[in-house]
Amino acid sequence: MKDAAPQTIHLADYAPPPWLVERVELTFRLAPTATRVLSRIRFVPNPATSDRRFFLHGEGLKTLSARIDGAEVTPREVPGGIEADVPDGAFTWEAEVEVDPAGNTALEGLYMSNGMYCTQCEAEGFRKITWYPDRPDVMAPFRVRIESDLPVLLSNGNPAGSGDGWAEWDDPWPKPAYLFALVAGDLVAHRDTFVTMSGREVALGIWVRAGDEDRCAFAMEALKASMRWDEEVYGREYDLDVFNIVAVDDFNMGAMENKGLNIFNSALVLASPDTATDATFERIEAVIAHEYFHNWTGNRVTCRDWFQLCLKEGLTVYRDQQFTSDMRSAAVKRIEDASLMRTRQFREDGGPLAHPVRPESFVEINNFYTITVYEKGAELIGMLKRLVGDDGYRKAVDLYFQRHDGEAATIEDWLAAFEEATGRDLSQFKLWYSQAGTPRLTVSEQWEDGTYTLTFRQETPPTPGQTDKQPLVIPLAVGLLNPNGDEVVPTTVLEMTKEEQSFTFDGLASRPVPSILRNFSAPVRLDRATTDAERAFLLAHDTDPYNKWDAGRALAMSALTAAATDGTAPGADYLDGLGRTLRDETLDPAFRALVLSLPSEDEIAQALHAAGTTPDPDAIHAGRRAVQEAIAGAHEATLADLHERMQPTGPYRPDADDAGRRSLANAALALLTRIDGGARARTQFAAADNMTQSVAALAALLAIGAGEDQSQTYHDRWQGERLVMDRWFGLRAGLAPAEQALDTTQELARHPAFHWKTPNRFRALVGGFANNHAGFHRADGRGYEFVTDWLLKLDPLNPQTAAGMSKVFETWGRYDAERQGKIRACLRRIAGTDRLSRDLGEMVQRMLG
Ligand code: PHE
Ligand code: ZN
Repeated sequence: MKDAAPQTIHLADYAPPPWLVERVELTFRLAPTATRVLSRIRFVPNPATSDRRFFLHGEGLKTLSARIDGAEVTPREVPGGIEADVPDGAFTWEAEVEVDPAGNTALEGLYMSNGMYCTQCEAEGFRKITWYPDRPDVMAPFRVRIESDLPVLLSNGNPAGSGDGWAEWDDPWPKPAYLFALVAGDLVAHRDTFVTMSGREVALGIWVRAGDEDRCAFAMEALKASMRWDEEVYGREYDLDVFNIVAVDDFNMGAMENKGLNIFNSALVLASPDTATDATFERIEAVIAHEYFHNWTGNRVTCRDWFQLCLKEGLTVYRDQQFTSDMRSAAVKRIEDASLMRTRQFREDGGPLAHPVRPESFVEINNFYTITVYEKGAELIGMLKRLVGDDGYRKAVDLYFQRHDGEAATIEDWLAAFEEATGRDLSQFKLWYSQAGTPRLTVSEQWEDGTYTLTFRQETPPTPGQTDKQPLVIPLAVGLLNPNGDEVVPTTVLEMTKEEQSFTFDGLASRPVPSILRNFSAPVRLDRATTDAERAFLLAHDTDPYNKWDAGRALAMSALTAAATDGTAPGADYLDGLGRTLRDETLDPAFRALVLSLPSEDEIAQALHAAGTTPDPDAIHAGRRAVQEAIAGAHEATLADLHERMQPTGPYRPDADDAGRRSLANAALALLTRIDGGARARTQFAAADNMTQSVAALAALLAIGAGEDQSQTYHDRWQGERLVMDRWFGLRAGLAPAEQALDTTQELARHPAFHWKTPNRFRALVGGFANNHAGFHRADGRGYEFVTDWLLKLDPLNPQTAAGMSKVFETWGRYDAERQGKIRACLRRIAGTDRLSRDLGEMVQRMLG
């Protein structure tokens, strides 16, 4: 087998597979450094093509034997795999290969984590297990036999027998190889059952290391709620007798939807009040749902090729967002999701890594599991639903499932189901999938004789490889308020399809105040000249929670950018408006917490850059702190009252109400800590009986350069708990005062518990430091050098995690020439390194442009 030189793959080059697979049988003889994998695969010619080239992917496999219809063959090695001469019709391929799970540090294929065997095959990891047409449009039923002395042996599908040292599994549902999974280990289960809508009982198991079994209850409840929700809302029933989830400590991503055997990063399963925060509980609920929902959107209907990734990811994210809205507060969830889009996705869209929701080329597909594919992909589904209505959406999705169950589909198939079910022409809408970048929407207003006209202009700035942009369909949810603050035109969805378009509202008694892009109805940047007074008006009166929050956000941002550029103190519109919002007891505490929390330094830098000002990280840091102090000074009594009164009483519960109250109390605490020397935070830390309260107190202290004792206490108490210690590394590096951040982080990198080969720990420290905006962007460039050294150290072992972390450099174009030069020098140093991985190599090339 030869090493494949990095090659660019294009969507336009798609060709159907010459051979389809009718059935796969695998036997695993597990051994840490020499696992034997025996495969028996029935191939049949694909009637859709006349091409009969027989090619199998494979990487790092030691082949012991290969046979076609029982006769020994010697396949030819070609880049990325092997070829062999085969009969004209159906035949059986058999191979025996050896792999080395213990030596697999990339965590792709079959690897080991704490003595347990596990697999990760998405996107192209199955080829590291055995020879196979490792592409998602080849789907087959799998039968798997595992031979090992370990007590728990799991794979996809239903159990099909077991005995001393072996177990067999049968998965009747045809699936692509990326959904294959195997786990073997000394694990314990948290068990439950679920009765489906047609009355079938499903055995549920969450498998963890001994000692972790009392931290699975929350994930189990989330799983059962997800199963019920998918039946009720989408009419989708589960389709096997068992559903298993396994928690793994060493994992490159969040979690993986393998058929009937989801594998999770343990950080996204294990939770107890004393070890997990409210945010972690909410995230676990959402990810459990996400992976479960993939059973229909991803597994039963999969992707034809990896360019179609958003077909399963955008849709599944959209579904998990709907689930969370139903389980918790829809308004708060929408603000959180919109905020994520506006910060991280707009950042990606505006930088060198911008790409369409459906990319057209890639070198390494692992680099395209992005916020654009996932979150913007979900926004496109939301827009579709807004355009065709709830009934049209349900009809279209039903048709999509009915038509493509058991198939590997495309975005064209998805849109065709919508066109047929609703009669709507979606040709212009389809541009959202191919055109990268964030449309910028400018607004002008006209008022004359009771008629109010809104004129919108859309423009999408150029992105790498795409200079000419066309107008998109943009659903614009708009409402109008009169000067008293009453709503005179309730939310109306305007459909913008042209570059410039006007919409008129008649019969109004007075000039209205518009509330535009309600509920974040489209992933666009709204650019409207307005005043702080009008923002304060909307913060007080808007009936749309997202726009109400956005008005507060805009006020905060204008205060922060002013403070970061000329040191101006926040004005009365912001401070008074904030005060009124905080005291408004009719508002959900979680909502008030969102209004109170300030944009991050990275967001401020992004806003300044968008407005044509070069961000100065130190000035941003100082300005943000000054604004915090001003808020705390102006509202000390209100904040102190909220901090005291909002703490829920009684035993800890991670539900939306209690979590919302805690988040308001803790947002107040963070501000108060800026002016009380840390007294309240120290008291809270000492008394805390749950992780949310102790972390909030510790973070508030670290942010003012205090908290040494509390940090030590936390360390000593939790040093045996890996997930809790990840948080400790992240907080210390992320919140250290800018001047000390690098020293602190370097010291932490020498800590005996800095297990850098574990992705969670690596990301906590290196990612935590990069999140320390002023510390990472220190003027001498040593922050950049530090991260570069670590990327180069990790890359040979775990390219996927190294490449993911390299995105901390994607914003280089925002900063001053000196910083730009220093970042580019680091990127060039990486690019010039010998034996760089395909993953990191592609990322730095794209960032260098
Ligand atoms: N498909 C997974 C998800 O979003 C993500 C993932 C991708 C996990 C690649 C591992 C490897 O649900
Ligand atoms: Zn997913």
